[in-house]
Amino acid sequence: MPDQAPDPLSIRRLYGRAQGHPLRERAQRLVDDLLPRLAIPTEGPLTPETLFGDARPLAFEVGFGKGEHLAFQAARRPDWGFIGAEPYLNGVAGLLAEIEDHSLSNIRIHRGDAIDVLERLPDQSLSALYLLHPDPWPKERHAKRRFVNPGPLQLVHAKLRPNAEFRIATDHVNYMRHVMYVMQNQPGFEWTAESPSDWESIPEDWPDTRFAEKARKLGHHVWRLIYKRL
Ligand SMILES: C[S@@+](CC[C@H](N)C(=O)[O-])C[C@H]1O[C@@H](n2cnc3c(N)ncnc32)[C@H](O)[C@@H]1O
Repeated sequence: MPDQAPDPLSIRRLYGRAQGHPLRERAQRLVDDLLPRLAIPTEGPLTPETLFGDARPLAFEVGFGKGEHLAFQAARRPDWGFIGAEPYLNGVAGLLAEIEDHSLSNIRIHRGDAIDVLERLPDQSLSALYLLHPDPWPKERHAKRRFVNPGPLQLVHAKLRPNAEFRIATDHVNYMRHVMYVMQNQPGFEWTAESPSDWESIPEDWPDTRFAEKARKLGHHVWRLIYKRL
């Protein structure tokens, strides 16, 4: 048998948790009633028109956790459309609660692997992509599961518009080093930091996520990197 070429999108398999504690009453109601109305259709073209009814800019968050950052961005830009992908059901329920609490009408949700939705979007259709505290897979033998790898990055590059931002946050020093090394060698992206103050400053439209807050409480540094799609 010849060796099989490795899947360049090898993070496609989901390794994380699909569900945590049983959902409370409100969360279950949101999953049963609201999620079907906001879920990304499983077939057909995915464009701003099919998702939101007009030609608005689109942004995407990979692994939104409980959804507080995605809800923040959606409230800040009501004229944009936001797509979030997250396999963890309790996280999806968290985003649904944010959507209901803040009457947000510009978010669509995929409960599952971000890659499955990303690859269905038209090329150069995204104005921003957020990857905040991705699972770090710290062991070297698991490094191919990291989102920041050439296969997923080629897809991200294809889907972002020129000059669109690709934002990455991590509190793992090794993941930060991995990001910097891989992104430096990945054609079509430019790190926007020009001075140490850029590296340390926190953009006002980038609130901490739950993971960032937890990391800071543990005394970890949180790195934020902004890349521009060339
Ligand atoms: C460490 S958590 C960070 C959550 C959130 N972004 C935050 O900062 O609080 C990583 C998240 O990525 C999600 N995830 C893992 N693999 C994924 C994939 N292939 N597509 C989308 N989300 C994924 C996990 O379920 C988890 O919620």
